[in-house]
Amino acid sequence: MPDTTPPAASSIARGGFTPALAERLHALLGDKGMLTDPGDMAGYLREWRGLWTGRSPAILRPATTEECAEAVRLCAEAGVAMVPQAGNTSMVGASVPHEAGEEVVISVSRMNRILELDPVDMTMTVEAGAVLATVQQAALEADCFFPLSLGAEGTAQIGGNISTNAGGNTTLRYGNARDLVLGLEVVLPDGRVLDMLRRLRKDNTGYCLRHLFIGAEGTLGIITKAVLKLFPRPRETELAFVAVESVEAALALLNRFQRHDGASLSAFEYMMRFGLDLVFRHIPGAVDPLSARHEHYCLVELSSPRPQAQLRASMEAVLEAALEEGLVRDAVIAESDAQRAALWRLREEHSEAQKREGASIKNDVSVPVSRVPALLAEASAACRAIVPGIRVCAFGHVGDGNIHFNLAVPEGADDAAFLRRWDDVAAAVNGVVRRLGGSFSAEHGVGRLKTKTLAAWREGPELDVMRAIKRSVDPANLMNPGKVVPLA
Ligand code: FAD
Ligand code: MLT
Ligand code: ZN
Repeated sequence: MPDTTPPAASSIARGGFTPALAERLHALLGDKGMLTDPGDMAGYLREWRGLWTGRSPAILRPATTEECAEAVRLCAEAGVAMVPQAGNTSMVGASVPHEAGEEVVISVSRMNRILELDPVDMTMTVEAGAVLATVQQAALEADCFFPLSLGAEGTAQIGGNISTNAGGNTTLRYGNARDLVLGLEVVLPDGRVLDMLRRLRKDNTGYCLRHLFIGAEGTLGIITKAVLKLFPRPRETELAFVAVESVEAALALLNRFQRHDGASLSAFEYMMRFGLDLVFRHIPGAVDPLSARHEHYCLVELSSPRPQAQLRASMEAVLEAALEEGLVRDAVIAESDAQRAALWRLREEHSEAQKREGASIKNDVSVPVSRVPALLAEASAACRAIVPGIRVCAFGHVGDGNIHFNLAVPEGADDAAFLRRWDDVAAAVNGVVRRLGGSFSAEHGVGRLKTKTLAAWREGPELDVMRAIKRSVDPANLMNPGKVVPLA
């Protein structure tokens, strides 16, 4: 297990969840809005891979901003710390409470309405608990498009996506969650409501506060509503599953697509054979669309709002030229929506397949795109030197330089013993990443898992400013304490 010992008592707020407070919260939220039965609470306390299981006196589930604000005010008054939670799919232990059992969880999942969709402004106003897939679907029904897309989209909620500044499969074209948010409503740690629900494309009026809360992982307040940016709905999409000669060839192919029709390129993902083998082994119905085995693969998506965008011609032209040059070894282009979904599944089921295979150590890192081959070669060698037999399962958003440099337990080895090497393995990977000018967390955030790394990498004025912000917005350290920014 990674060493994520909670910070010293002085930096974690300690208040009392007294019977009187429980009574006031229950009077405010009702039976549906407050869970205290251990069976009902279990799903809110457990990290999805089972790496951490926290304890809590209650799960609060407000149904409106007003209820949320009042619940926060009551907790703040009593000095009780709070952990905001949405879909609980965090990869870094950010959304579950610590084991001490002093923090309440505030889940936004009952605040899940789509409030307004404006096809002229191209905006959608939603509550924080709306599930990402529901938001995507609502946009499509209005002939619009909300591009954020990730493997957990059927469970993750928009408040969590915004709080983690989620990336995913479409960052290459549309940016991260940060780039898709125009306005926010936030409940501050003392219960006041910050209303920034503006839908303006231009608004230079002082510090842009919404960006403070985007990516703050619930350490500065609770996002209750958001105004999202919409785009025209794609009318034509082409998807190819491509076996490439090497990682270098994958980058050369990316470059060819960018030069040929960069405006249409909407996703460019990397997979290696080992990850695909895990998907074929553990995910029912997953089959290899190519007849021979290869070492490296890409998933390439082109899409356009224009109905006759000639994307098939673009896709074929680039792939054929790359095949002739030896960059591409084989490829298949999806012929239907069902085939497109099946090909995307091969990529998106990597996390689930890895989980079913046994223990894994995740490193969500980014480097400049050109340095991805060096990252894969050097980090693989470094990990193998530490744990002989370790199995590299690298995949991800190569078009953004974001590789999930995940590692699977050696065949036949003990899961717990492998996880005890987490810190050594992560340090080795991060050493390579740092040398290559990268980041130790590209899209999953810092959460509980990487606070020590944040302190080490951002030491100096950057960390000082982060601490000053946290102390000024949340002076009593009540909002998701012990996550993201270590205060001591
Ligand atoms: P949660 O896990 O509930 O919370 C995440 C963080 O946000 C926590 O710190 C929590 O305290 C805080 N938070 C939650 N709601 C609020 C709120 N309303 N106000 C303030 N703070 C809040 N991530 C990517 O970026 N890209 C991927 O491609 C990707 N793929 C994934 C695939 C799988 C299979 C899984 C399981 C996860 C994946 N993730 C990915 C990680 C995760 O899904 C994202 O981080 C997602 O954005 C989290 O959303 P959530 O609703 O589950 O948030
Ligand atoms: C993904 O892109 O599938 C996830 O972010 C990666 C992971 O499981 O590490
Ligand atoms: Zn990812």
